[in-house]
Amino acid sequence: MKHDLVVGGSGMLAGLCKALAARGRTVSVVGRTRWKLDKLASAGGGLIHPLIVDYRFADRVPAEVEAAVARHGPIERVVCWTHEEVSTSAPLQFGGYASTGFLHVMGSAAADPAAPSKLQGWRDQFSLAYPALPYRAVVLGFVQDAAIGHARWLTHEEISAGVKRALDSNELLSIVGKVEPWSSRP
Ligand SMILES: NC(=O)c1ccc[n+]([C@@H]2O[C@H](COP(=O)([O-])OP(=O)(O)OC[C@H]3O[C@@H](n4cnc5c(N)ncnc54)[C@H](OP(=O)(O)O)[C@@H]3O)[C@@H](O)[C@H]2O)c1
Repeated sequence: MKHDLVVGGSGMLAGLCKALAARGRTVSVVGRTRWKLDKLASAGGGLIHPLIVDYRFADRVPAEVEAAVARHGPIERVVCWTHEEVSTSAPLQFGGYASTGFLHVMGSAAADPAAPSKLQGWRDQFSLAYPALPYRAVVLGFVQDAAIGHARWLTHEEISAGVKRALDSNELLSIVGKVEPWSSRP
């Protein structure tokens, strides 16, 4: 069974989860809210499985993820969208379950020229913790929208499609939309 784990997959990454399931992959999706996960699972042809756990409580994560592994097989890839302001350890914790790759989804702040070490900091932490695990990052940028005459943030569809492209590629760093010039962001 080809099994992916999508952390924070029931919001803007719901389209990604559905696309992976449409490709025949088994997808475990981490979130806290039962109805959001059930709604997503109902669109997954039996391949999308809710994994209800709050990653702020790190001690609760292993039992839930290990139960998903017992049910659906070892996890190959982890796609991880977490809120760093509530947990700085969650990406590394979920990274421990990936066997073939980890894709770190980051907000546009990761491209802020005023904080250039953010991405490298994560890369360093992962290579120390999991030297054999391919670590890749995807940064969510913005769109210069000619139709509305100014820049705007990405839609959920654009985010899911862009993260899927990043997952399919071997790029160490992918950008969805654009992040330059930084001063043009919405
Ligand atoms: N550059 C851009 O264009 C850009 C970048 C980032 C965000 N955004 C926008 O900002 C909006 C809000 O962002 P958002 O972060 O709320 O994204 P979201 O993807 O809509 O929701 C967050 C996801 O993480 C889960 N989650 C959150 N906290 C959790 C926790 N403690 N434990 C387990 N799961 C947790 C949520 O499930 P539960 O709610 O069930 O916990 C949900 O699946 C997005 O919808 C997007 O439109 C745009």
